[in-house]
Amino acid sequence: MIISALKPSDLKDLRSVIHPETISRLTELEGISVKFETGICAGINVSDEELINLGLISSSREECLSTSNMIITPSPLNREDVGLIQVGSSVIGMLNPFYAQDELKLLAKANVNAVSMEFIPRITRAQKMDVLSSQANLAGYAAVLEAARYLNSSFPMMMTAAGTLKPAKVFVIGVGVAGLQAIATAKRLGARVEAFDTRDIVEEQVKSLGAKFVKIDLGETGETDQGYAKELTSEQIEKQKELQSLVCERSNIVITTAQIFGRPAPKIIDRDTIRKMKPGSVILDMAVETGGNVEGSQVDEVIDMNGVKIVGISNLSSKVSNHASFSLSNNIINWITDFYNLELGSINFDFEDEIIQNSVLVYDGEIKNERFI
Ligand code: NAI
Repeated sequence: MIISALKPSDLKDLRSVIHPETISRLTELEGISVKFETGICAGINVSDEELINLGLISSSREECLSTSNMIITPSPLNREDVGLIQVGSSVIGMLNPFYAQDELKLLAKANVNAVSMEFIPRITRAQKMDVLSSQANLAGYAAVLEAARYLNSSFPMMMTAAGTLKPAKVFVIGVGVAGLQAIATAKRLGARVEAFDTRDIVEEQVKSLGAKFVKIDLGETGETDQGYAKELTSEQIEKQKELQSLVCERSNIVITTAQIFGRPAPKIIDRDTIRKMKPGSVILDMAVETGGNVEGSQVDEVIDMNGVKIVGISNLSSKVSNHASFSLSNNIINWITDFYNLELGSINFDFEDEIIQNSVLVYDGEIKNERFI
């Protein structure tokens, strides 16, 4: 089986879907050879020569697409790319299914199988393949460092000869994977941290990191069987905004991470709240790419609203591209090695398997999982 790894379509994305420290897990498998698009690891300071020395073959994008049985990609493929792929091959990676539906339909039409790493089910056996978690974890870390860059004060309390410097107050809204890492990172830097989530089940996790859980009684909220939050009613959102704004007012940094899987992010911070915040404070909207949690936030822009900086940064995990690539490549290799059949010399698409059922969106020209449509 020939596997090719492609570069991201977004030139600002520094991540790679292969990494020199993980790739031997693929190249050592019998019957597998690995090609890569020239320059694939430039964003993590790894040269083509280093990859060639590890037994990989450097190729043009066109050659990768047209000569492979399996293509690994960090972003959806366009019409031109799909046109080059051999019938019956497979594409695996970050296919962004809720936003790139047309691209997935193109793959079905071209009889190319599509494996979306975003649809890995949240079961214990599949945690090692969960790209959303591996990238959200690093994004949560990067979010705190980015927010700190825009704050005009330091994080820790410092007792100095020139007086006592008060610690920064950080409020994290949404305590999933990214939120938990944001809390941990802000605590490590010495901030006082408060956090809120509609799933009150996370209260214990917040406390275990030494942060304070903000209680807001919204009535029935709940989560799906995959652990994702359910969408709130407009009355619940209004109540959340009202009580949450009191915490925003006393915070120096607010980091919002609230997401609803497959839906636009809920708008939970409005202009009224921002107006009440102290000039010089910072809001970092981690949901900016899915519509934003904060009124007025823009992708890759810093907006000044009455002295409050509203920061929106896309693809935060790319800020730590080396670790992001290491995790991403391990996640994808874990999928491939679990389903690679040595005797067949190809992937065993066993639709009895829960991971296959969820992650394989297109197989044999057919859309197999319609959750993204
Ligand atoms: P996510 O990225 O979908 O959402 C981020 C957070 O926003 C969630 O905690 C969600 O409850 C919260 N949220 C949604 N609406 C909100 C609102 N209006 N106000 C405040 N917060 C709001 O979630 P993520 O990071 O994917 O994790 C969801 C859960 O799944 C977590 O508890 C995580 O630990 C769990 N998980 C389980 C895995 C497994 O294999 N069992 C793997 C990965 C995550």
